[in-house]
Amino acid sequence: MPPPPADNPDNNRVLSGMRPTGRLHLGHYHGVLKNWVRLQEQYDCFYFVADWHALTTHYERPETMGEFVWEMVIDWLAAGVDPDKATLFIQSRVPEHAELHLLLSMVTPLGWLERVPSFKEQQQKLRAADLATYGFLGYPLLQSADILMYRAGHVPVGEDQAPHVELTREIARRFNHFFGRGGDFEGRAAASIERMGKRAAKSYRSLRRRFTEHGDRDAHREARRLVLSQQNIDAGEKDRLLGYLEGRGRAILPEPQTLLTEAAKMPGLDGQKMSKSYDNIIALRDDPGRVQRAIAAMPTDPARVRLTDPGDPDKCPVWQLHRVYSDFDTRAWAAAGCRAASFGCLECKRPLIDAVQEEQAMFHERARQYENNPARVREMIEQGCRNARRAAAETMEMVRAAVGAVYR
Ligand code: TRP
Ligand code: SF4
Repeated sequence: MPPPPADNPDNNRVLSGMRPTGRLHLGHYHGVLKNWVRLQEQYDCFYFVADWHALTTHYERPETMGEFVWEMVIDWLAAGVDPDKATLFIQSRVPEHAELHLLLSMVTPLGWLERVPSFKEQQQKLRAADLATYGFLGYPLLQSADILMYRAGHVPVGEDQAPHVELTREIARRFNHFFGRGGDFEGRAAASIERMGKRAAKSYRSLRRRFTEHGDRDAHREARRLVLSQQNIDAGEKDRLLGYLEGRGRAILPEPQTLLTEAAKMPGLDGQKMSKSYDNIIALRDDPGRVQRAIAAMPTDPARVRLTDPGDPDKCPVWQLHRVYSDFDTRAWAAAGCRAASFGCLECKRPLIDAVQEEQAMFHERARQYENNPARVREMIEQGCRNARRAAAETMEMVRAAVGAVYR
């Protein structure tokens, strides 16, 4: 899956987070973690435990957090997320997230937050919890702070989270609009233009004029390309020239792109979406015996009462599982055998039991070294938090300067 072009093609930073809400299951693996593992090979990935986000909806049960956090991190490692390739950390251990959240809140119109689709939806869905709170309203803004803190170019999320990334883009734009013009912006832009060299400076000026005075999109595109290809100026100056081009000030906080995860829909044991709240999960680190029993007990097409009754795979949750786990030949075998009633459902399930157990054998193998060594997990996360904090400190230095909160 080639990623869409980033706003700035040089931006190789990926950021994503997950709330610690319990043991992860195969839905998380196929929906999210597999993708994280793929991305860590190619991008500078930051993955974090969104513990404060969990608290916005589960503040009545804070005791679950500690345990869930460590179990979830082990699940990540079991899935193949590699601390040598990606930076893994815990949100609350990088308190800069709270500071950025606060500063962003200064320019965030209430209406923007009230209009985020998940706000009303979740409030209605989770009626048991009182979500008429300041913290919950700010949920997507905290997420924006998470993303903007690392100046991430790409945010891999499922469709439900896309509006949060969209909000992040709007917040970044608004922040840059208010705070990106300080410190003699125009004068500095002029100096950066000169530093590109005579020829490039001349074309930049003429392209900018074509864009700002005549709305010429081609000129805009060409000017961007020109700026990004310059060798003589650094990334900060490029930001400034892109901002100057568009008349919006410097991009202190760059706008991220959504990296939509198109995942196979992972069915639960009953054919509904796999989810802890439906009690239909196979946990990432279930033992082989439970996997065997759970799949064997899965309901199938109700038309197949007797062995000789033909069935229809499209009416069977097991078939959904074949679509995730089986290759073409196995699927053809299963579908044909189902329609011709040439075997029973248990036989149809056997390759799936094998496939899931095989996949999990790998998870168990990776997890073992950590399960027996909690200190190692703690240490690895400590290191990740240190790295994340260093990156966060850089952004906050710029942000504090931009809002004028620097006192020397
Ligand atoms: N809201 C996300 C979820 O529920 C978790 C999350 C928090 C996140 N901060 C983030 C995801 C930043 C991506 C980027 O899944
Ligand atoms: Fe489902 Fe397979 Fe049984 Fe058909 S044979 S009903 S696909 S389990």
